[in-house]
Amino acid sequence: MPARIHTPTPRNLRLLAGVLRRGGLVAIPTETVYGLAANALDARACRRIFQAKRRPAHDPLIVHVPNLPAAEQLAEFNAAARVLARHFWPGPLTLVLPRKAAVPDVVTSGQSTVALRSPSHPLARRLLKLSGVPLAAPSANLFGYVSPTTALHVQAGLGRHIAHILDGGPCQVGVESTIVDLSEQGMLRVLRPGAISARQLLAVIRAAGLTLRLGRITGRSPVLAPGLLDQHYSPHTPLTLCRQSGALAHHSATAGTAVIRLKGSATPTAPNAFFLSKTGSLAEIARNLYATLRQADARGFERILVQMVPPSRRSALAIAINDRLKRAAGKRRG
Ligand code: TXA
Ligand code: MG
Repeated sequence: MPARIHTPTPRNLRLLAGVLRRGGLVAIPTETVYGLAANALDARACRRIFQAKRRPAHDPLIVHVPNLPAAEQLAEFNAAARVLARHFWPGPLTLVLPRKAAVPDVVTSGQSTVALRSPSHPLARRLLKLSGVPLAAPSANLFGYVSPTTALHVQAGLGRHIAHILDGGPCQVGVESTIVDLSEQGMLRVLRPGAISARQLLAVIRAAGLTLRLGRITGRSPVLAPGLLDQHYSPHTPLTLCRQSGALAHHSATAGTAVIRLKGSATPTAPNAFFLSKTGSLAEIARNLYATLRQADARGFERILVQMVPPSRRSALAIAINDRLKRAAGKRRG
């Protein structure tokens, strides 16, 4: 039986909170992407997440909490981590910190750290409150595929593997949270770029009178953060990135190639033309990115060509969008 898509009525929210408390799985909306949630303190429930997603056991989960006091039950916070949590939570920032004993091994893939985030989406917050437990939730897609930003995306990928999806409409941010590792004293390392930039984080740290060095990631250890794998977030159709708009114009004439541009009219002129925004705003591009990749992927093109954000636009979202595009275009699976 395919998953049930629930509208967010008070009755349905109570029902879904009960499912979570009893060890079941529920796909939930967050402000970034939809997550596949389970009680983070229940190892059996968390193992079900890995099974449903076909996710390798070495790829740890992010735990969602209502607030900083709840987070401090699960991880050892230092002064910098507290400052960042107070400033950016609830919101699209995930902190990696030394774990406490309450966190089951399955959540952290046996690592000594745990990833924590307090989401701002009102329905995610409602379920955290009603269930009364922290929620482990990776993106609600099959491992390696494009993340879901609507309930129907979740249904398309996981519908046969899970029973419940909470419909909160399309996600507002559209790309996954910024992940920063603060587990080493005095050091901040960005493991995954998102809507919040390293520069913003360091400015807040400095304003609080603290100093942190910005660490570099060396090597691409899958254990460090598998989201950094070259090939991730990928459609099935081979995807090529394009830095010059001239090449886009050239390929627009090739019917077998889907051409995705950053900006364009709402009513595409050709069946192979897709646009990520009407206005060119990065927030709109990020919000539409995954839905557009999925649309193009579903239409049987031989390949997809996507325009990258020009390097002149150095904002956090520009970096996050290009990061996801590069990974989506990465080496094909065997
Ligand atoms: O916006 C988001 O973060 C979304 C929503 C649902 O909250 N979640 C999400 O989860 O993107 P997921 O599992 O698709 O990506 C989480 C990333 C993975 O690359 C994982 O390796 C990394 O977080 N991660 C989790 N725990 C970690 C840890 N202890 N150390 C380093 N990386 C960790
Ligand atoms: Mg994911």
